Amino acid sequence: MQVHIAQHPLISHKLTLLRDETTPSPLFRALTSELVALLAYEATRNIRVTEHEIRTPVTTMSGTKLASPKPVVVPILRAGLGMLEGMVQLLPSAEVGFLGMVRNEETLEPSVYAERLPENLSNRQCFILDPMLATGGSLLQAINFIFDKGATDVTAVCLLAAPEGLAAIEDATVGRDLTIVLGALDEKLNDKGFIVPGLGDAGDRLYGTVE
Ligand code: PRP
Repeated sequence: MQVHIAQHPLISHKLTLLRDETTPSPLFRALTSELVALLAYEATRNIRVTEHEIRTPVTTMSGTKLASPKPVVVPILRAGLGMLEGMVQLLPSAEVGFLGMVRNEETLEPSVYAERLPENLSNRQCFILDPMLATGGSLLQAINFIFDKGATDVTAVCLLAAPEGLAAIEDATVGRDLTIVLGALDEKLNDKGFIVPGLGDAGDRLYGTVE
């Protein structure tokens, strides 16, 4: 597993605004989108391309275009939906699949409540979007789901992670072609499974509380 932790003053600036408990939902959504666009640049560093011959107004040249099959972007509902727009702005030709997952707030166990993915992901590069990697349970289940459908390599883009969750994913994915791109690696998890210092519940802050 490869881990990239962003080192950029604009990302730190926007993450600080995102963490601030006084930041309202409209600004939270805008910041999430901007942060994803910045992280997507790193996340797509190894995207597959092929040579592409073109004619400029001056001459012919061999350029580059995205290889087929096109990459697949998978936001984890709900909170990952807030990251989709920023990602597809950079990758407009990507296909989008959806995974709905929720973490039981008592046991912290994740479960899948919705799935709309291409049946066969053979030879596909997949990008999973979820703002929070806390215990890592949700992301690990999503990663396994996608590899089981034949994906060749998976890159997860998360705004924040806890060291405990990152270590759990590393232990459980030995031998997989997995990259995790993070806006920041925080200090720890608290006893409720929240990232500390974190930003609270990303889904609630994006879309409001679910009773
Ligand atoms: C949050 C978050 C991740 C998961 C992280 O989703 O968006 O999917 O929890 O926790 P984990 O690493 O311990 O599994 P949540 O279950 O709150 O659902 P929501 O996105 O609908 O709010």
